[in-house]
Amino acid sequence: MGDILIQSKNLKKYFFDTGGWLSKQKNIVKAVDNVDLEIVQHETLALVGESGCGKSTLARLLINLLQPTDGEVLYKGENIFNLRAEAANQFKKQVQFIFQDPYACLNPRMKVIDIIGEPLTTHKLAVGKNKEIRVEQLMNLVGLRQEFMNRYPHQFSGGQRQRIGIARALALNPELLICDEPVSALDVSIQSQILNLLKDLQAQFGLTYFFISHNLSVVRYMADRVCVMFLGKVVELGNCEEIFEQPLHPYTSFLMNAAPVPNPKLRNRARLLLEGEVPSPMNPPPGCRFHTRCPYVQEICRVEEPKLADYGGRKCACHFSLT
Ligand SMILES: Nc1ncnc2c1ncn2[C@@H]1O[C@H](COP(=O)(O)OP(=O)(O)OP(=O)(O)O)[C@@H](O)[C@H]1O
Ligand code: SF4
Ligand SMILES: [Mg+2]
Repeated sequence: MGDILIQSKNLKKYFFDTGGWLSKQKNIVKAVDNVDLEIVQHETLALVGESGCGKSTLARLLINLLQPTDGEVLYKGENIFNLRAEAANQFKKQVQFIFQDPYACLNPRMKVIDIIGEPLTTHKLAVGKNKEIRVEQLMNLVGLRQEFMNRYPHQFSGGQRQRIGIARALALNPELLICDEPVSALDVSIQSQILNLLKDLQAQFGLTYFFISHNLSVVRYMADRVCVMFLGKVVELGNCEEIFEQPLHPYTSFLMNAAPVPNPKLRNRARLLLEGEVPSPMNPPPGCRFHTRCPYVQEICRVEEPKLADYGGRKCACHFSLT
């Protein structure tokens, strides 16, 4: 493995849900619960897991859009939550975010030149002709025609709008791109174009990607390593091919089997695994959080939480991993 670019240590984000002013009950949503994660320079680390398991919350913590309940995030060894002004400014330049729905985060009243050039303006890096030249360069990089720079977002297709979002994210020469479901709002035919663009840009600029996706074939295409989350916890982490070919955690196996597969035997197995109550992050079950659905559950699983243990470079949190 190469150098670690960013890592979380014992990272927690709990949301306190009061249930409205009439309710006396206070619920805690443990959206991210004690996550240790390392992202290595130049790799694509994919994050997978069901809706609500804490993927976006983790991404927002890594980019300092959310304050953690506890724990730290180290970027090149420095805790991002207490950086001094100059270092905080550098961090904001080096780490950028690409969202699922580019339209929602592109100001409809701004021209593309101002949208893509906004980070240059904010950081006082280029104005006037210099800004225009840099925006032209960025538009070329992401496959947009530079003569469209005076158009507005609604004049572009979904795929083109995502290209605008990517161009803006690249404006400050970042090192790390956090991509939260970057293609799931796009037509399937457009998805692969954007994925290939992201791959080309990574090769060209040595970028590091933290890539969140529900779509396992997208993950398999993009990722070097895969991190699997379940109810706020990392349950498995490892090399992409190994995770797909031979999952160690029963939940990873369930995820892989639940993806559309032609093999009817695997389909039956997925159905078997789906039995049992689906727990909530609000009141996660004690012991292993997957125990209410796991076909391999034993008594110890209901009381003792399995630790994330090392299996020759892979990590898995299960008392009875599928080795
Ligand atoms: N601002 C918030 N206030 C209260 N609860 C929140 C907040 N943000 C997220 N949550 C809760 O935290 C949990 C994790 O949410 P998160 O958005 O991180 O999940 P996700 O894995 O990204 O889901 P999806 O795949 O649907 O995007 C959910 O139970 C969610 O309801
Ligand atoms: S610890 Fe037990 S319940 Fe949890 S995944 Fe492993 S076997 Fe299943
Ligand atoms: Mg999300």
